[in-house]
Amino acid sequence: MKRATVFVGMMLVSSILYAEEGEGLRVPMPAKISKAWKSECGSCHMAYPPGLLPGRSWQAIMNGLSNHFGNNASLDKVTEAEIRQFLVYNSADHDVRPLPATAKPTPTPRITETAWFRRAHSEVPSSVFRRQGVGSAANCMACHHAADKGVFAEEDVSIPR
Ligand code: HEC
Ligand code: HEC
Repeated sequence: MKRATVFVGMMLVSSILYAEEGEGLRVPMPAKISKAWKSECGSCHMAYPPGLLPGRSWQAIMNGLSNHFGNNASLDKVTEAEIRQFLVYNSADHDVRPLPATAKPTPTPRITETAWFRRAHSEVPSSVFRRQGVGSAANCMACHHAADKGVFAEEDVSIPR
């Protein structure tokens, strides 16, 4: 289990590193953006680019929308299916297998708990994530001003004081 997480993390880091140089560090964004994803998944926080998590994590998130970090983020069936497909097909690993029906419910996966996220932020003290202008590590846009476009380059980072 642990191993798989590390492996996915490594795959993601490599896809980040190979992204367009010169234009800054990018998590590739799909050419075709789902409008439902942008509006529904961008209403409480930024719509996290699908390349930030593996397919199985998105599946788990979409399976648990009725209790999404303490919120009810449920959607109608059609919208849910569209968003699920968009996220999973554009995920970090393109793993399109649904979670097996027998799988135990897992805690909702977080981007901020992946191995690559911890590594990329190893020099950011946890107190910085709690600053008033940030709130939590999940608030990517507080520091990465173009995070919603998949841009995480160093020159686009500024940390609120
Ligand atoms: C009703 C508000 C609401 C809606 C709608 C919503 N979310 Fe969230 N989401 C939250 C909250 C609250 C958190 C926890 C944020 C924190 O810890 O600071 C969260 C966290 C997340 C995280 C984890 C961020 C981290 O810490 O790494 C992901 C991924 C996520 N949401 C995806 C989605 C997706 C996909 C959708 C659309 C299907 C969605 N959210 C819709 C409220 C919402
Ligand atoms: C408190 C500010 C802050 C927040 C919030 C934050 N980051 Fe970062 N992030 C940084 C800093 C500082 C770096 C290191 C800068 C550097 O050397 O590139 C970094 C690095 C990264 C990198 C690696 C970039 C590189 O050049 O190697 C990625 C990818 C990244 N962050 C994604 C995210 C995502 C996704 C979120 C939200 C879920 C997030 N970050 C939230 C400050 C933040």
